[in-house]
Amino acid sequence: MKLKESLGALYKKLVEIFTPDVKIDMDRVPKHIGIIMDGNGRWAKKRGLKRSDGHRAGAKTLEDITNYCGEIGVKFLTVYAFSTENWKRDKAEIDAIMELIYEYLSNMEKLLGGKDCRIRVIGDRSRLSDKLNEKILEVEKYTGDRTGPTLNIALNYGGRDEIIRAARAAALDVKEGKKSEKDIDEKYFSSLMYTGDNPEVDLIIRPSGEMRLSNFLLWQCAYSEFWFSNTCWPDFTPKHMRMAIAAYQKRNRRFGGV
Ligand code: IPE
Ligand code: IPE
Ligand code: MG
Repeated sequence: MKLKESLGALYKKLVEIFTPDVKIDMDRVPKHIGIIMDGNGRWAKKRGLKRSDGHRAGAKTLEDITNYCGEIGVKFLTVYAFSTENWKRDKAEIDAIMELIYEYLSNMEKLLGGKDCRIRVIGDRSRLSDKLNEKILEVEKYTGDRTGPTLNIALNYGGRDEIIRAARAAALDVKEGKKSEKDIDEKYFSSLMYTGDNPEVDLIIRPSGEMRLSNFLLWQCAYSEFWFSNTCWPDFTPKHMRMAIAAYQKRNRRFGGV
């Protein structure tokens, strides 16, 4: 296992070295990036490792990429850690993912290294364990007043679930007379999303070769730019982020205009 881990780290270094580097314009870094952290299982399989080893390697990548995004001034980073559909997997794999998330949140202060980062968990928490829910509240509390970059961790998150939740909240506001039917416009409805106080999602990145959203940020992605890579998430490096951002900076975002 140790040998395989070292080989994995060496391989990642080689990927990093041989990935062509590109320059990004530091004055036009996207404000809000979403990442679908996919490919952990295939990464592990290719190396004869367990899927849970892939998730562990993916958690390490998350640390590196979060730090890198902080360094280059990304203000909001939303990462897809577990979808409302991922409950279809084996219990052992789900338990391993939840345990990793717990560990990740427990080590947060150390991982952040004194950085002024705000952590939020978005998604339906009702299905998460009490232990994990307590940890989430603890981390959100001690990072809540910080004014630096925000990391949203999407956990038991589904875009459709989020929209239904917002529709219910809107219906309740109308029922209780706080809003009239006409008040339900895009601005108000956006405010009911988990990301209600975040800026628009500028760029969505999906590694591992899949080209779909898999229920991620369905409401928020209306005018996001997309960038896909064949590299699996555990092998993802800051160079890949630079490639994605450089591609984003070449796009002409028209928002329906000319
Ligand atoms: C993404 O990696 C992590 C989660 C969905 C929790 P996968 O586990 O989906 O990896 P692949 O897609 O099977 O390779
Ligand atoms: C999306 O990946 C969810 C996360 C990365 C957390 P999946 O691996 O679950 O998506 P599908 O099944 O390939 O669409
Ligand atoms: Mg997957």
